[in-house]
Amino acid sequence: MRPALTDYQHLASGKVRELYRVDDETLLFVATDRISAYDYILDSQIPDKGRILTAMSVFFFDLVDAPNHLAGPPDDERIPEEVLGRALVVQQLEMLPVEAVARGYLTGSGLADYQKTGKVCGIELPPGLVEASRFPEPIFTPATKAELGQHDENISFEQVVELIGADRAEQLREATLRTYSQGAEHALKKGIIVADTKFEFGVDAEGNLRLADEVFTPDSSRYWRADEWKEGVVQQSFDKQFVRNWLTSPESGWDRSGDTPPPPLPQDVVEATRARYIEAYERISGLKFDDWIGA
Ligand SMILES: Nc1ncnc2c1ncn2[C@@H]1O[C@H](COP(=O)(O)OP(=O)(O)OP(=O)(O)O)[C@@H](O)[C@H]1O
Ligand SMILES: [Mg+2]
Repeated sequence: MRPALTDYQHLASGKVRELYRVDDETLLFVATDRISAYDYILDSQIPDKGRILTAMSVFFFDLVDAPNHLAGPPDDERIPEEVLGRALVVQQLEMLPVEAVARGYLTGSGLADYQKTGKVCGIELPPGLVEASRFPEPIFTPATKAELGQHDENISFEQVVELIGADRAEQLREATLRTYSQGAEHALKKGIIVADTKFEFGVDAEGNLRLADEVFTPDSSRYWRADEWKEGVVQQSFDKQFVRNWLTSPESGWDRSGDTPPPPLPQDVVEATRARYIEAYERISGLKFDDWIGA
């Protein structure tokens, strides 16, 4: 008999996840169906999103070399029935206070920094790059972990050294770039560009660096369609395209520049978004989402 979720002590809520205590060393890491857009957690949920993101993370944890935080299989008997497929049993780690971001392409806050300074996180880049340009090679662009409601801020490698020490910082940069390259190369073969991605690493009881949190999900990465990639223009987001298009259309009646939260999504936008998440998972993994646990 599987335990009930209420058997575990609830420890924390993130924007998308809920953390529970399994024992002194172990957490139940539960993904919800919550979705964010334009820095708001929307009122609408995307059915199955938590299971899809969990399936994707498990696929990529397996694909890349880095040691990770998984402490059991996705059908671990410690996982309650009600969260099966969207929960993982993980080692509780001492999380590093740095968002480990790797970028293969110029966009978002990277583009803003580049346009101001010619650099991203202190890294000198060739002149003439534009929106969506591919870098000569991927770069490590760490950021601070912002408190809820705040924005992460890009920092230099030297600032990472100040936060966690030189050895750990080197190790973090190397693991980030290596893991990004492994995941992005795989996705590209399946027609998806991972323009950038954010990892969170933690340190285990033996002092080893481990890849934690979620990996290579559309929530932690920018996914673009490789066949539509074009330098100089803002690429459509693979997963949130329908959500953003609708929110910024007159139909939604929402004013992005105001301070009212976005309205609930219409059913067709919810459905189209769900289909996109499934498409991304199936294309990248070559697996059927129907076969994922917890259906
Ligand atoms: N192995 C682990 N041990 C301890 N904490 C972890 C581990 N893996 C992930 N975490 C933490 O669990 C939380 C997950 O919550 P969630 O994904 O909702 O994230 P968030 O950080 O609030 O938002 P966002 O991912 O959008 O930045 C994060 O605070 C993350 O640092
Ligand atoms: Mg997170």
